[in-house]
Amino acid sequence: MTNTVTMNNNNTNNNATDENRKKRKVKRVSIELGDLTQHNLKQLKVLNRDVFPVAYNEKFYKDLLGAGELCKLAYCNDIVVGAVCCRIDLSENRRRLYIMTLGVLAKYRELGLGTLMLEHVFKICEREGNIDSIYLHVQINNETALAFYKKFGFQVISTATEYYRRLEPCDAYLLERALKKSAANEQTAAATAVQQSAKKVPAVPLSTITDVD
Ligand code: ACO
Repeated sequence: MTNTVTMNNNNTNNNATDENRKKRKVKRVSIELGDLTQHNLKQLKVLNRDVFPVAYNEKFYKDLLGAGELCKLAYCNDIVVGAVCCRIDLSENRRRLYIMTLGVLAKYRELGLGTLMLEHVFKICEREGNIDSIYLHVQINNETALAFYKKFGFQVISTATEYYRRLEPCDAYLLERALKKSAANEQTAAATAVQQSAKKVPAVPLSTITDVD
């Protein structure tokens, strides 16, 4: 699905006349999400290098190719300008979605691309119905990201001290948003659990999910 938003150009001249102000361009841009493939993986690497202060290794990217809906590129007028990469975390006897990276190139921020990607994540959780919460880490001085996630109901749960080895500040906040399981999915999950324990087969993971260390 494509969304259309307006984007002001940045050539603001304080001495501009009213006439000039009227003429200032307001571009209409389309924003949409697309799949990650072997062919655009390099674009994701370049984007992440630009957006995040930490580097991700080859294994991270290799695993993303199998992540399906959990990894999406964000396009603005057909140009890759953002990306979201998540994984399902089954630790602590819970089923949680972990947002590993979510970012937009500086020039394309505050156009709704972050919202588009986060809403995609919410849709995945709603569809699956059996995910307890969404969580992520944010560097403690990243006020923009904190404001962004708080707007969508995320709360600071704790501080992970020395979370980043090579960054200053090195601490991160752990943010989480609890989710309600849908009644239908709770019943299905319970029924599946009963069937599986009867058949003695392990629970089947979601087909689209790849765990990343
Ligand atoms: N100051 C305050 N609030 C802001 C700002 C800002 N600069 N930018 C966004 N917000 C909040 C606002 O509430 C905004 O709603 P509004 O437009 O109704 O006011 C809301 O976020 C949604 O804004 P979007 O336009 O959808 O967000 P955007 O596309 O700019 O993306 C993001 C936000 C992803 C945080 C972007 O600033 C970014 O890429 N930052 C650098 C990378 C980063 O820090 N990512 C998060 C790290 S944590 C992680 O990846 C798990």
